[in-house]
Amino acid sequence: MENKVLLQVKDLETTFFTDDGRVPAVDHIDFHINEGEILAIVGESGCGKSVTSLSIMGLVPSPPGKITSGQILLNELDLTKQSEKEMRKIRGKEVAMIFQEPMTSLNPLYTIGNQLTEAILIHNKGMKKKDAANRAIEMMKLVGLPRAEELMKDYPHQLSGGMRQRVMIAMALLCNPKLLIADEPTTALDVTIQAQILKLMKELNKQFKTAVLLITHDLGVVAETCERVIVMYAGQIVEEAPISEIFKNPQHPYTKGLIQSVPDMRYKKETLYSIKGNVPKPGSIQTGCRFAPRCDFAAERCFTENPPLYEVNSSLVHKSRCFLQETEGISIAERAVESR
Ligand SMILES: Nc1ncnc2c1ncn2[C@@H]1O[C@H](COP(=O)(O)OP(=O)(O)OP(=O)(O)O)[C@@H](O)[C@H]1O
Ligand SMILES: [Mg+2]
Repeated sequence: MENKVLLQVKDLETTFFTDDGRVPAVDHIDFHINEGEILAIVGESGCGKSVTSLSIMGLVPSPPGKITSGQILLNELDLTKQSEKEMRKIRGKEVAMIFQEPMTSLNPLYTIGNQLTEAILIHNKGMKKKDAANRAIEMMKLVGLPRAEELMKDYPHQLSGGMRQRVMIAMALLCNPKLLIADEPTTALDVTIQAQILKLMKELNKQFKTAVLLITHDLGVVAETCERVIVMYAGQIVEEAPISEIFKNPQHPYTKGLIQSVPDMRYKKETLYSIKGNVPKPGSIQTGCRFAPRCDFAAERCFTENPPLYEVNSSLVHKSRCFLQETEGISIAERAVESR
């Protein structure tokens, strides 16, 4: 399939204005997703993954949050410029999102059938209720829910966690969106169900050509699911690479740490590697590389200068924000200056 860009995020900054000051939770990030592609964003808790997805959906809690710079282009339409009314049309129809805990997105007072049917009717004015119900049943079967007709009459609490997440996926795909954002879709589920849900998302991606932005803190999850991966740290992108490259040839010390901390079932290790220290609070960020205080390779310079994104391999689109690249890679900032 040819690589047509579906979503282009340019220089996005999303800031929270809190009592403690200005917190740039997403700090000038650039990335894109092609039509029909699965892209993963990985990173530890608090690095800005959810704020990135909420920014795309136009759902950043405001106040205290606000998109303070940049563009989010969906097929060239800048989502940051749309009114809430416009965004309501885009959500569900163009871009849909599933969350970590499906119970928070399903209304406990209504049956599954009621909620799915309503969601169909919102975007298909004039459709008969019976037809919407049939479409809901068809969608439930598609996401592998057993006894779909009976489930229509059930309330969310009567379903297991895995079944509820399947309902959420069905709901997200009802209007055949071009982009599905899945924010930690399997974190609340046990390992076997996790694997089933990821397999389902991959199948649906193939069948409907829905592009997927998969957000997770678990590199193990992305290994089997995605084509490309973006690693975030403290609001910034620190590495971007095709999935095979990230495991074979990781460049950023943070990515290397993440890979080392993935449990490998083939080797029974006594203790699992964990990266020392914690992610800095976004507001507290000082000069220099944000990862330097936790980095085994940090030199003096890393504490005073902020490294740009370097091109590791331009034909593979592999980038890393680390001075270790300086001998081999060309800084993307420098390149941009050169081509101006
Ligand atoms: N409502 C809010 N008010 C103030 N600051 C916020 C708010 N929501 C998020 N933040 C800030 O944005 C940062 C990034 O949060 P985000 O939820 O995107 O992290 P995450 O990468 O999704 O983490 P997790 O893996 O735990 O879901 C947080 O560290 C926090 O400082
Ligand atoms: Mg999150």
